[in-house]
This record gives sequence, C-alpha cells and structure tokens, in this order.
Amino acid sequence: MNNLIKFIEGLPKAELHLHIEGSLEPELMFELAKRNNITLPFKDIESVKSAYKFNNLQEFLDIYYQGANVLRTEEDFCDLAMAYFYRAHRDNVVHTEIFFDPQTHTDRGIPFNVVMNGLLAGIAKAESELGMSVQLIMCFLRHLDEESAFATLRMAEPFLDKITGVGLDSSEVGNPPSKFRHVFAEARKKGLKLVAHAGEEGAASYIKEALDILGIDRIDHGNRITEDHLLLTKAARSAMALTMCPLSNQKLQVVPDLRNHPLPYLLRHGLRVTINSDDPAYFGGYVNDNYKALAKYCDLKADDFIEIARNSFLGSFLPDQTVSAYLDVLDKYVDSF
Ligand code: HPA
Ligand code: ZN
Repeated sequence: MNNLIKFIEGLPKAELHLHIEGSLEPELMFELAKRNNITLPFKDIESVKSAYKFNNLQEFLDIYYQGANVLRTEEDFCDLAMAYFYRAHRDNVVHTEIFFDPQTHTDRGIPFNVVMNGLLAGIAKAESELGMSVQLIMCFLRHLDEESAFATLRMAEPFLDKITGVGLDSSEVGNPPSKFRHVFAEARKKGLKLVAHAGEEGAASYIKEALDILGIDRIDHGNRITEDHLLLTKAARSAMALTMCPLSNQKLQVVPDLRNHPLPYLLRHGLRVTINSDDPAYFGGYVNDNYKALAKYCDLKADDFIEIARNSFLGSFLPDQTVSAYLDVLDKYVDSF
C-alpha cells in the first residue's frame, strides 16, 4: 500500500475539474479580507473549517459564494490562482483546466476584466515558473437565467482566445442542461469546447440532455450515469471523459461511503474516468488526496491509476501532439518506478 501511495504521488497527471474559487484556503481568505478591509463572519481559521460540514450541494454553494466575496482585485485573483498552481504542482499535476465563475464576481460589481486579468497573470506565472500548462473554462451559474449566461459570454468576447471552453455549474436539480441550449450553441459557434456538471445530484436524464441537447465534449461528475445502461455504453463507445471528484462526493453526501464510489465500475465498463479535486479548500484534499482516498476504499491497483492518469491527458482539451508528449512522460515514470 505504501508503495502504491508513493507511486500515485509521483504520477504525472492532469486535473480537469477544479473550481479556482473552490481552492480559496481559509488562510488566504483571512489575508484577503484584511487586505480589502472586509469583515468575515468567522472569528478565526478554525471556525471557518468547522463550518465546512455539508448535507448537500446547496449547503456547500451558500458558503462557497460567501467565501468568494473577499476576491476584489486583479492581485487577489492572481494570488488565488498561484496558490492553487503551487499546490497542484506538488501533486505532480503538469496540466490543469480550471473553472472560474464570472457571474459570482460580476454580480457583486467586480468587473469581468479584473477577474480575467488576475487569472491570466497567475497562469502566465505558472507556465513560466512551474512549467505547467493551464487552460481556462468559464462556467455559467445554472441557477441564473440563460440571458445572464449570454451577457457573460458577451463580456468574454475580448478574451475568447484565452478561454478554452464553457461549463455549467451551481445548483443542479431544477436547472437542467436544456435551460442553456441556446447559449451553449452560441459558444460552440465561437469555437469553444463545452462541458457541464451533470449527474452529480441530478438524474441520469440530465447527463443525457447535456450530451444530446448541449453536445458537450466532457461530463463533469456524471456519477448517476450508472442508472442508465444504454447511456453508459454509448458514452463508453464515444470515449467520453468523466471528471469525477471522490472527496467532493463524500463531503456533499453524493457518495457518503467511498467504498460505494462508482468510479471502479465505470472504469471496468470502459468509460474514460478521471480523478479531480473540485473544490479542494472546502472538501479536504487536493488531487492526490482524491487518488489516495480511492486507493484506500476501493479495489483499484497501480494499473488502474495509470489508466486514470492516462485518461486525464486523453480527456483534456490539449492538442494531440501535446497529449502524446505528456503520455510519454507518464510512460517513462511508470517504466522507471
Ligand atoms: N457542483 C456544482 N457546482 C459547483 C461545484 C459542484 O461540485 N463546485 C463549485 N460549484
Ligand atoms: Zn465542480
């Protein structure tokens, strides 16, 4: 087991499901609150951490949007991103595709440009200092209406060459993918990749809608695909990637007992499953902690983790040549271990 843990830690990997706002550690939250003269509803870091107990997705989202309130300036967004890149680098993440939620910021008066310029400054630093590759995925908040998503896409217009794709997050049940069919079609026309959270709390029919109506390129979470076998086999045949997040699932009571996590079943059924951290500051672990949690609770061997790490590159939005180069690095690591 110890050997497997060491092997997992050193595996070169990509992270494909990470909300940058969800990487805001309580320590940085306090630092930014001080810098921006904001009074937090918590007296210290310990009381922040003890507030992180969630019965469902919505209870988490309420706290997560509140935390984001300390982010005000380009420097704040840059510091937030850099803290994540350094941490992910320690987990041997060599490529990452990060989500950001512009509406969380523009709706409280922070200009879109401030968010973008801050994140882009962080990304430039990660690329030059850490040698990581980074892509940006702009998520629409699904509890808001489609017009607000369109307004966000218009704001992003000057930055579209720096944004790889669009996604869909926030409160799933009651906000099906079809609500955003027009804005996703528009994003596709602009050449953007498409992803959506689906089947985390929502039924398998939400995954079907995301695939058939939105035409997504990758499924975020997708846990409940196990409930529709036809959909599962079709997704496997088309090599559809799923960005799964075990510790998130455990903390949000999606899978309270990780021994029941669907990832091993989906892996055996040929789905391109990946392991990611979602909102690591809130769910108690970065990407390697998520790999290790499944190593502990599920029947997965070194070969399975190699396949999962391979999937993280194959499921990425990198050009084929870059994917091949990363797979070479992965193969060399496996060979030399
Ligand atoms: N699900 C939906 N919305 C989110 C999540 C999630 O896991 N994390 C941040 N926003
Ligand atoms: Zn997520």
